[in-house]
Amino acid sequence: MKKSLEEHAERFSEHAADYDESQDSPEYRAAADLVVGHADAGSDETVLDLGTGTGAIALPLAESAGRVIGRDISEGMLDRARGKAAERGVENVAFGEGRFRDPNVPEDADVDVVTSNFAMHHLGDDEKREAIAEIAALEPRRFVLGDVLFFGEPDPDDPFYSPEVDDPATVGVLADAFTDTGFAVTAVEMVSDQVGVLVGDRIEDRPGIEDPEGEP
Ligand SMILES: C[S@@+](CC[C@H](N)C(=O)[O-])C[C@H]1O[C@@H](n2cnc3c(N)ncnc32)[C@H](O)[C@@H]1O
Repeated sequence: MKKSLEEHAERFSEHAADYDESQDSPEYRAAADLVVGHADAGSDETVLDLGTGTGAIALPLAESAGRVIGRDISEGMLDRARGKAAERGVENVAFGEGRFRDPNVPEDADVDVVTSNFAMHHLGDDEKREAIAEIAALEPRRFVLGDVLFFGEPDPDDPFYSPEVDDPATVGVLADAFTDTGFAVTAVEMVSDQVGVLVGDRIEDRPGIEDPEGEP
């Protein structure tokens, strides 16, 4: 991690008021839409959105999911998310403090789907692996990660990220972390050479190949 958690939290809180307007790139929009689409959360399901920010993923997910838990380290971003939920009358979403490696999931929550968009690249690669292991320990049926990540060698003259604060991984590092923690990588969406979406389905929840109805 190139900055401490506190530095990241402070930086995002300072920009919370204009964050939504600043996220207008086609790559960001495409990744956000893909994350929401792949989450495919049902009305009886609980979604945990990590690095939820101002609720760009959590709020649309709340339209179909039964319950959405948004977690972030920035109180400024969380306040904004809460304000938007209140304005829109969304009642099945709760925003609160939580971090990738300590998501602070309420005791009564059984998480079915974990999502995260444009947030994990703030962690170093070892920290990403730890975070993905933490997510796997919640035993969701699916983990959908949209982020700045490298499909090849990024053009040093055209970085989609800020090298001084961001630490994107290669798609290979992330895919290995998924499989090492019990997720089958079931989709990889390449939005650009520096933005993508990975979908991991928990292997234990996938139907057997010989019996697609799910019998072991
Ligand atoms: C670029 S914003 C993305 C917000 C939102 N997911 C979206 O798609 O617009 C990144 C967010 O990740 C949060 N963040 C950074 N490091 C984090 C960590 N270790 N745990 C939880 N949230 C973190 C920041 O506070 C910020 O709100």
